[in-house]
Amino acid sequence: MKMNEIRAAFETEITNCQDLQSLQELKVKYLGKSGELTVLLKSIKDLPAEERPSFGAEVNALRGVMEARFAEKTDTLKALDMQRRLQEEKVDISLTSCKPLGASHPVTLIENEICDLLIAMGFEVLTGPEIETDYYNFKALNIPDDHPARDMQDTFYITDSILLRTQTSAMQARLMEKRQPPIKVICPGKVFRSDSDASHSPVFHQIEGLVVDKNITLCDLKGTLEYIASHLFGENTKVRFRPSFFPFTEPSVEVDVTCSNCGGKGCSLCKGTGWIELLGAGMVNPFVLEKCGIDSKKYNGFAFGIGMDRVAMIKYGIPDIRLLFENDQRFLKQFGK
Ligand code: PHE
Repeated sequence: MKMNEIRAAFETEITNCQDLQSLQELKVKYLGKSGELTVLLKSIKDLPAEERPSFGAEVNALRGVMEARFAEKTDTLKALDMQRRLQEEKVDISLTSCKPLGASHPVTLIENEICDLLIAMGFEVLTGPEIETDYYNFKALNIPDDHPARDMQDTFYITDSILLRTQTSAMQARLMEKRQPPIKVICPGKVFRSDSDASHSPVFHQIEGLVVDKNITLCDLKGTLEYIASHLFGENTKVRFRPSFFPFTEPSVEVDVTCSNCGGKGCSLCKGTGWIELLGAGMVNPFVLEKCGIDSKKYNGFAFGIGMDRVAMIKYGIPDIRLLFENDQRFLKQFGK
């Protein structure tokens, strides 16, 4: 009877037991040195000799049952405990991946691409100030105060003699004043002009290229530009020179490439001509060389200025330059992943 009571009480208690700590206490209560079952077993001495073996066997069987139940309950509670801790101590790793991943701006992509190409050709990359003097931006480049060429570029003046550079060409004189040939550099950077519509932005980006050495020809310029164009727009891209005018180059050329959209057949992007105007270039004007202290009888060179925004627009089919500067994520997301 006593044994049945213990069995029943044990069964209720272990079923209701919720944590490992109370389970341990329960184990002591039933199976410990002075636990219920131990005490019960000790009472064997009060029984008549013939009942002892079966009583002993029954108590031991119950002990076996209890031990098995404890083992099983321990496993269950441990599993529950682990589950609870996993819940409580959960680190929400999804949080970081919720942050939008940055991507390179299309102009940055073009800048990197062109710089990589030219670095591979042995050009050095240099950058110069965006706030520039009238001297480097204009005068040193053979554009005196009253020169009509100043009207080609609507300038943001800070004072009479300080301005936001309108062209990376401003780096030409800065460089040539300091160095003697051979010079082989590119200068990427922002330039500024007071102009704004679908194809003009008050801030845009150019890469200036300058090579000064002995026996440089227009052919070297063309070869360099063909190399850049074929890498940017595809192997079959052709380059053509049209006569143009810049005060700091003589002769000067406007450089066109075959339209990457139609391959030169004529489409809406190239306005049916098959050609797209890409950049200005020319042979460095001897006047500029001399002004910077380079002997124009010994040395000559070429220079070019690529508008990177324009390249990005052609390459990625961007219809309006202002899209590049609005920082609309829906637009920016499409590039540089
Ligand atoms: N600086 C000129 C421009 O901004 C481009 C140019 C660069 C032309 C170098 C000739 C040589 O339009």
